[in-house]
Amino acid sequence: MADGNATIDMDAFWMPFTPNRRFKAQPRLVARAEGMYYYTGDGRKILDGTSGLWCVNAGHGRKKIVEAIQKQAAEMDYAPSFNLGHPLSFEIATRVAELTPPGLDRIFFTNSGSESVDTALKIALAYHRAKGNGAKTRLIGRERGYHGVGFGGISVGGIVKNRMHFGTLLTGVDHLPHTHDIERNAFTKGQPEHGAELADALERIIGLHDASTIAAVIVEPMAGSTGVLVPPKGYLERLRAICEKHEIVLIFDEVITGFGRVGKAFAAEYFGVTPDIITMAKGLSNASVPMGAVAVSRKIHDSMMENADSPIELFHGYTYSAHPLACAAALATLDIYRDEGLFERAAQMAPYWEEAVHSLKGARHVIDIRNIGLVAGIELEPRPGAPTQRALEVFERSFDRGLMVRVTGDIIAMSPPLIIEKAEIDQAVELLGQILAEVD
Ligand SMILES: Cc1ncc(COP(=O)(O)O)c(C=O)c1O
Repeated sequence: MADGNATIDMDAFWMPFTPNRRFKAQPRLVARAEGMYYYTGDGRKILDGTSGLWCVNAGHGRKKIVEAIQKQAAEMDYAPSFNLGHPLSFEIATRVAELTPPGLDRIFFTNSGSESVDTALKIALAYHRAKGNGAKTRLIGRERGYHGVGFGGISVGGIVKNRMHFGTLLTGVDHLPHTHDIERNAFTKGQPEHGAELADALERIIGLHDASTIAAVIVEPMAGSTGVLVPPKGYLERLRAICEKHEIVLIFDEVITGFGRVGKAFAAEYFGVTPDIITMAKGLSNASVPMGAVAVSRKIHDSMMENADSPIELFHGYTYSAHPLACAAALATLDIYRDEGLFERAAQMAPYWEEAVHSLKGARHVIDIRNIGLVAGIELEPRPGAPTQRALEVFERSFDRGLMVRVTGDIIAMSPPLIIEKAEIDQAVELLGQILAEVD
């Protein structure tokens, strides 16, 4: 094995979302990470073009975060949040609430994006019930949506492979059409012109079921995992208006778009559309300790407090909700974002990023390029009879030559840490260009 890990026994670890047999026959391991780079066991340097899994927004191995975790582990390793508190949990909730849009300032903690999504869906249901609208139970997701892997998340999610193996999922779920439209929008920089009208599908769903049966709509403001699908101009505004009109809770899943990815704290702020609930995870703790959260509007929260039929207003929570190590890590992370102005930096770097990635227009196989903030999707023509293979080959060659990208289907996705320098953007784009010219 080229990376110095020849002695590792790989049989026991059933790897997530991985072709295990293929991977274990030809593994790619990383051993260390710092700043913009991963390092393999034999010291090869890999530029992290994806912030891990869209999560290490401040870059790797940040000293302040490491020290905060170490200090907290020594001081108090764990404390429950059920009917007991510890100061950091309240402090981090307040800090998160300072970043969320005005009015979305009640924060529930989880340990992952999947848990945040299930929590948000449950809150939407419980809210309507508490208000006496217990018939509002339907949940509306969107095709090509990714909302994690809990039963709630895969039910509202729109990725066939994530759904088809797992039975009937939740009942009472419908889906909006996705907004991806290469024919009309290929090579758009930023938000595409065409597709706002796709939001009107919600009115059709309401026409079918009646608004009195619909609890919530959940969308990623920018769909990340299915290939960087940027919302068409006016689309999110229309969804917001329809939800408002019919008293449907609008949930933005910002697990990827939160914490500076699009150049603002949240995509809600960037797009100027405020949902009722925001889910987050990943960048919240810079991925150093697992942590997720759900920001809930004052309106929903207060209504549930006032209308609760028992002293506990929400029968929901996790052993590790507001885990002290996660709170310490998140506080240090938010300090770094603030002190280094990383969200603003992402916004300033976005035009350079946009020009750089769009310079790949005309490269072999490329049929579309999309971008927003520090995110880009490069869609390749699928190889005839072998979809996904071409992009997979680009991924493997990139890794072997020092660049980490992500692939989903035949789309290459990039979302580097917000500390990336212009020279590193150039380096990544140049290497990708070379590799695209080489692969068949
Ligand atoms: C939009 C969105 N929601 C939810 C999730 C699930 O997060 P996790 O893997 O932390 O459960 C992800 C993960 O990529 C995501 O992109």
